[in-house]
Amino acid sequence: MTRRIAELLRAGQPDETVTIQGWVRTKREQKGFSFIEVNDGSSMAGLQVVINQDVPDYETSLKRISTGASVEVSGVLVPSPGKGQRIELKASTLTVYGEADPETYPLQKKRHSFEFLRDIGHLRSRTNTLSAVFRVRNACAAAIHQFFQERGFLWVHTPVITSSDCEGAGEMFAVTSLNLKQVPLNEQKEIDYTQDFFGKPAYLTVSGQLEAEIMAMAFSNVYTFGPTFRAENSNTSRHLAEFWMVEPEMAFCDLDGDMDLAEAFLKYIFSYVMEHCPEDMEFFNARIDDSVLATAENIINNQFERITYTKAIELLEKADKKFEYPVEWGLDLQSEHERYLAEDLFKKPTIVTDYPTQIKAFYMRLSDDEKTVRAMDILAPKIGEIIGGSQREERLDVLERRIVEQGLDPATYWWYLDLRRYGTVPHAGFGLGFERLVQFMTGMANIRDVIPFPRTPQNVEF
Ligand code: 4AD
Ligand code: MG
Repeated sequence: MTRRIAELLRAGQPDETVTIQGWVRTKREQKGFSFIEVNDGSSMAGLQVVINQDVPDYETSLKRISTGASVEVSGVLVPSPGKGQRIELKASTLTVYGEADPETYPLQKKRHSFEFLRDIGHLRSRTNTLSAVFRVRNACAAAIHQFFQERGFLWVHTPVITSSDCEGAGEMFAVTSLNLKQVPLNEQKEIDYTQDFFGKPAYLTVSGQLEAEIMAMAFSNVYTFGPTFRAENSNTSRHLAEFWMVEPEMAFCDLDGDMDLAEAFLKYIFSYVMEHCPEDMEFFNARIDDSVLATAENIINNQFERITYTKAIELLEKADKKFEYPVEWGLDLQSEHERYLAEDLFKKPTIVTDYPTQIKAFYMRLSDDEKTVRAMDILAPKIGEIIGGSQREERLDVLERRIVEQGLDPATYWWYLDLRRYGTVPHAGFGLGFERLVQFMTGMANIRDVIPFPRTPQNVEF
């Protein structure tokens, strides 16, 4: 049976007979033998393989091997005399599956820029950095499921195609089967959606929250974890048009319970990744951002800061820093403000609560003074907003009023309103931007480098 290289590096014993499969990272030819380093993606480090010239087809096989070639090697593990590895594999047979012509294969030994690697999205996962990112991404996802499953949350699958705009921001991609070259029009010369696939306008979801609320009213505690889509034309290092979001929703829960869960959640994911991917995290600290390990330590061991929006505005007004965007009660915080609070002032994740009603979505619970809603955003150093959540408006009359005030049509939210008609309870939840979490964890500067196939304006190649 083929063994994974990570497992052999950790636990492989001298004299064990093993077979490995993978891609060659480097080849060094000596007189009478050669070294190749083989990587199978299971760990940052590859396994060093020694091939003596008495291995069958030595000359022809070696000629076909260069960086990027795919191979299978069988042999016996031996203690390694070389520096940096405990064991190595002494080959008895060697099969070359596929060559990688060094004249054209773009990934050679030198370090490539992340911009360059984005243009070869079909190959970049074979590099040290991107493979470390995707292993950490996987560990984050595993941690998320483990966290919720341990606490009895039900994973619910909310739809990708929807007819409602959860955030009410109108940043949705349309889904249609109409022939765009010949769109049917009705008597008012508007698009005749009755002829479309669903008989009405449909979109890619911006959030699974509204459906998660439906499920929370049956199962108490639920979470979603899936792709969401936003057609906002923001070409920044923190925005994607397609990103993954984790959205827990809890019945019988208020904003304090929501914040407590979010804080425990982030601490759990960081601990999990430190335990499961220590080598990758050390690599990020050494090569990408030298604050990665200290940040993880800080998240795990310190309480997050909690302040109200009103207090945040006071602090920003007092700041001895020039901001590009104005600071004024009633205006949304810009990422420079978020970063000042979390990065410069508190130097740790900062939870800002109770935002002005006008700048937040219709579903957030109105406070008694009606000026603010029970919202919370978690701001992370370097990233800014990583989590956005709230206690939900559970009172039918208030919710109806808020939907109208925001210029939305209550008729399209009839089922959402029904949840307040039948067995309504105080409830709360939040959304974690999964790629922003992976960015925060790894120190990667650009969100395009923490998702295998980034979708951004003008970019949908791979
Ligand atoms: O703050 P947002 O818009 O909140 C919601 O969608 C709520 N329905 C969540 C809830 O309460 N269940 O988005 C949540 C998070 C943000 O904090 C951010 O981390 C991430 O999603 N996010 C994006 N990540 C990448 N690219 C984008 N364009 C993003 N927009 C939001
Ligand atoms: Mg938000």
